Amino acid sequence: IFLIIIGTVVAYLLGSIPTAVWYGQGFFGLDIRQFGSGNAGATNTFRVLGKRAGTIVMLVDVLKGYTAASLSTLLWYGDVITEKEMLTFKIVFGLVAVIGHLYPVFANFKGGKGVATLLGMMLATHPEMAAVCIGIFLLVVIASQYVSLGSILAALAFPVLLLLQIFGQKENPLLIVLGFVIFLLVVVTHQKNISRLLRGEENRTVLIRFRKK
Ligand code: G3P
Repeated sequence: IFLIIIGTVVAYLLGSIPTAVWYGQGFFGLDIRQFGSGNAGATNTFRVLGKRAGTIVMLVDVLKGYTAASLSTLLWYGDVITEKEMLTFKIVFGLVAVIGHLYPVFANFKGGKGVATLLGMMLATHPEMAAVCIGIFLLVVIASQYVSLGSILAALAFPVLLLLQIFGQKENPLLIVLGFVIFLLVVVTHQKNISRLLRGEENRTVLIRFRKK
């Protein structure tokens, strides 16, 4: 149990790394949370600081979720958990990292919306489904120019794919419920985006370089 607690703390600290905030402060001397949509995530970094910054922030944020989820494999190697429990712990550690990303101890508990970090977790638990969700995300973003809409629909696709057993594996019903809970989490973190989408005022993917909120 001690090692599981350590794993949870490490997952939270990993998720807490405020990539967008540190990148903005370190390379541009600004707080990304005061620009664009005000979100400390890859999309807003891309929007405000450019393609290279956005790509780097996205990769690091994905890696946070992937690495946190993979801590579970270490516990399995160390015989702390069984192989069967590994998937559950991947999800638990991945979600703890997402909580760290939303409420980072290293950035006054004001972080991002969790999409890239969730993707990292999904790549560690269900890589094929992650690939389909990325495809859906890209299609929606290219067609609509709204990243938030792509994030929400991709997050909805995950539990739906689990439910449809698209990849032929019989999923644990609890996992499907959890998938819908994750979708709800994405809806909650995107509340402002949803009301902007409904008003037709959502930010598009275009770069708006250094424009204050
Ligand atoms: O992943 C976050 C994205 O879905 C929305 O970001 O900056 O447009 O609120 P943003």
